[in-house]
Amino acid sequence: MTELGRRDHIRSFVLRQGRLSPAQGRNLETGMPLWGLPYRPAFLDLDAVFGRAAPKVLEIGFGMGETTAAIAAARPDTDYLAIEVHAPGVGSLLKRIGEGGLTNIRIVRHDAMEVVRDMIPAESLVGIHIFFPDPWPKKRHHKRRLVQPEFVALLASRLAPGGYLHCATDWEEYAGRMLAVLAAEPLLENTAEGYAPRPDYRPLTKFEQRGLNLGHGVWDVVFRRRAGTGATGR
Ligand SMILES: C[S@@+](CC[C@H](N)C(=O)[O-])C[C@H]1O[C@@H](n2cnc3c(N)ncnc32)[C@H](O)[C@@H]1O
Repeated sequence: MTELGRRDHIRSFVLRQGRLSPAQGRNLETGMPLWGLPYRPAFLDLDAVFGRAAPKVLEIGFGMGETTAAIAAARPDTDYLAIEVHAPGVGSLLKRIGEGGLTNIRIVRHDAMEVVRDMIPAESLVGIHIFFPDPWPKKRHHKRRLVQPEFVALLASRLAPGGYLHCATDWEEYAGRMLAVLAAEPLLENTAEGYAPRPDYRPLTKFEQRGLNLGHGVWDVVFRRRAGTGATGR
């Protein structure tokens, strides 16, 4: 057992001993009991977790939570389960939840691969967001990337038929790989011809805008689970 639980896969992150600002620390202490869920190898009843029946979207690797909070504020009728391992980022999103009075976000601070495998029921999600995952640019590190055939198959199984899987990256070679991996998953179909236009719900971050100004690209890959592939449609 490690600090983050049983591990039988290659990790897509390296836990840095990032420094917590005093505010992030305070937010972790007061916010996690309110908005955090502990990792437990048992499937969640997501409606019970959020206290209502509403569409559920999963976000993997939210970083500092800027985009998560913006999307959740703009879409109060949807619930967001947000996963991140990096403590300062979790503190930062908790701060945004408090400041924005947001009630439709829950946070799990744990390896998303284990959370999806052990806690998210089949066909329970209307969407999954993976925005700017670590690119792991060196070839020998590609096995650490989140977007891999096995994990994508697991993610697809957690989507309800018609639900979407949205990946975005500024790393061109990874974008091509995302497209190929998602296209090879039988449960999924592309919503576009190749790359998708950025959906309205994904705000441009400052970092991304700076990159675009410098002429760097950003690629969105949006697939959906095919109709008729659910337990009831088989
Ligand atoms: C490059 S950052 C992008 C953050 C954010 N999505 C954005 O667009 O700014 C990738 C994040 O994914 C997190 N991450 C990577 N693998 C993860 C995993 N298996 N479970 C949870 N978080 C993960 C990292 O800690 C990091 O904060």
